[in-house]
Amino acid sequence: MQLFGSEILGLGRGLPDRIMHNSELEKIVETSSEWIKSRTGIEKRYIAAEDEATSDLCAKAAVEALEKANVDASEIDLIIVATMSPDYMYPATAALVQYKIGAVNAGAFDLMAACSGFVYALVTAENFIRCGRYKKILVIGGEVFSKILNWKDRNSCVLFGDGASAAVISQTEDSSKGIISFELGADGSGFDKLIAVAGGTKNPITAEALEKKEHLLTMKGSDIFKFAVRIIPESIQRVLAKTDYKLDDIKLIVPHQANYRILESAAKRLGVGMDKFFMNMDKYANTSAASIGLALYDAFEEGALKKGDLTLLIGFGAGLTHATCIVRL
Ligand code: ACO
Repeated sequence: MQLFGSEILGLGRGLPDRIMHNSELEKIVETSSEWIKSRTGIEKRYIAAEDEATSDLCAKAAVEALEKANVDASEIDLIIVATMSPDYMYPATAALVQYKIGAVNAGAFDLMAACSGFVYALVTAENFIRCGRYKKILVIGGEVFSKILNWKDRNSCVLFGDGASAAVISQTEDSSKGIISFELGADGSGFDKLIAVAGGTKNPITAEALEKKEHLLTMKGSDIFKFAVRIIPESIQRVLAKTDYKLDDIKLIVPHQANYRILESAAKRLGVGMDKFFMNMDKYANTSAASIGLALYDAFEEGALKKGDLTLLIGFGAGLTHATCIVRL
């Protein structure tokens, strides 16, 4: 069987109109702009309108990515939406996106790997393309966290934002392009580190659960911090070891944008400077499954990355999950 390469033909983003600066949060919970900025690197986030759902942001991102790729929606074979804040528990948000953008020939499914979702989806899409089964796939990460957060919990509500990112992945005859090595990981023993306790089949929603706000996000922030600081360098080293490349050969690491201090610790452990990591959490906060796509988007817009560059993407989050890949763009 011939192996094909894959390439990102176009990137897009979908953002709500409303921007919420840290200062606005001072009126909602006991916090300060300074605390948020200095402990996380976040300055502002986007917040969806009342009638705006994850599929709306995903469709917006998809339309831009298709335009940039010069690809018609009807050419798309598959849509994968990575999200942990879907429009509905079912049907899949990806099916709604398929309908909204008129991707009449596409299959569609959601993928839930929290903040690792974009890389999980990219690796999944890449494998369909590399083996020649599909030619064009839309990989989308999208979240409307503002509607699943407990706005009384200062430990979590200051960290997240809404947004979506999309990439059109296409088959190419050049098999050197695309994902060179990857690692998808999970440690389900940490399932309760970031969780909505109620709303699934384990604890269906009851009046009592609603009263206790158990349908909303709760997080053990420092445990996730420790997990991330450990897994980032470990996984990067393992994924590099599967190739002939060294860290020096990677132009830029595009990580999940949770907290600049997580990346600072990881950089120290890897023995590299912070300039090795692309960061834009100041603009969007943590957008979970959308964050790596939004970072890729900005890295291209700012000229920090261009076609042909070798980059490394790494996500980590609820599950606990992590996902790492080295990509020739
Ligand atoms: N404003 C002011 N003070 C606060 C706030 C806030 N918004 N939040 C917490 N504090 C307080 C705490 O109550 C604590 O006070 P105490 O010492 O009196 O108890 C103090 O600040 C320090 O708390 P720490 O938890 O030690 O703060 P830390 O420096 O570790 O930062 C943070 C907390 C930002 C949550 C950090 O642990 C973190 O970023 N963790 C990772 C979280 C994350 O990325 N989650 C998403 C994963 S991705 C996904 O799957 C969705």
